[in-house]
Amino acid sequence: MPQTELHEFDSLVLKPVKLHHEIRFRKYAGNGRAGHVFKIRMNKEDFALKMFKFDNPALNATKFKGTKRKAFYDPFYIECRANGSLIERGLNGQILPFCYGWTDIPDAIELEVALRFGIQPFLWDRPENVEHQQIRGILYEWVDGRPLTQIKLTSDIAKQARKLLKALHDVEILHGGIAASNFLVEESRQKVHLIDLSASITLPHISISKQELQDRQQKERLALEVGFSLLSENPINQGVCVADFSGFDVESKKNSVADAYFIKHLWTPPNPTRWQRVPP
Ligand SMILES: Nc1ncnc2c1ncn2[C@@H]1O[C@H](COP(=O)(O)OP(=O)(O)OP(=O)(O)O)[C@@H](O)[C@H]1O
Ligand SMILES: [Mg+2]
Repeated sequence: MPQTELHEFDSLVLKPVKLHHEIRFRKYAGNGRAGHVFKIRMNKEDFALKMFKFDNPALNATKFKGTKRKAFYDPFYIECRANGSLIERGLNGQILPFCYGWTDIPDAIELEVALRFGIQPFLWDRPENVEHQQIRGILYEWVDGRPLTQIKLTSDIAKQARKLLKALHDVEILHGGIAASNFLVEESRQKVHLIDLSASITLPHISISKQELQDRQQKERLALEVGFSLLSENPINQGVCVADFSGFDVESKKNSVADAYFIKHLWTPPNPTRWQRVPP
């Protein structure tokens, strides 16, 4: 694949990676709007393999077409661009887990995750006209961490989370999916990792200006503080709040507190399922 320039928007700046011929699926790590993530083992090393759903026009009607559509709705393309940009700036593994590259997922793997983890073909949202197209994935360093809802929040953890988001913002990327599940905390080292660039916006962008990005970044930093204040309601934190609104004006703070209701679900531990609930 020829080296692509950052100014060529319609390109994957991320390079392809070859999967080892022997892959062991160790566990299902989690899912989200963009796809499914697995802990895999290759050559005696663990990795996170994120397998992406397709952007299916039949499931998401919009008048955007071509590159513009991909720029806003194709999580694989969006995550590749952001990682590509970080790599070009020499920041691979510094802000997010190390990214090894993207890969087509062999049919045998698609079949294996269907049989072992119940990820049935329809769950990939594959459009009818690309029935033969392979699922695409991105290979990452494996992070042994738990989401922010499952750990006791400290001011140091909050500081690390802020620092990671700020570092991403400094290289003209908006995360786009700030939520407790997108910060993994390694408990032994109390180290925070930011993950998931599937809803990010990376400059240069097809329709978002630098000013617009900066405005959104400011809102995103505020959303993180609102998230911290919501986490204080999590019993594990016993009401201790690490949010810091000092860098924001009164009006934005007032608006964000009013909006907190709408993002509450992103910062609260999931309810136990019907099967986990203790009978009264
Ligand atoms: N590098 C990694 N190491 C360990 N676990 C990971 C890694 N990347 C992702 N995960 C796990 O997989 C889950 C889903 O990953 P991710 O957030 O990237 O997917 P998504 O579909 O884009 O989610 P969202 O709905 O937030 O957009 C995470 O919440 C996390 O538990
Ligand atoms: Mg996520």
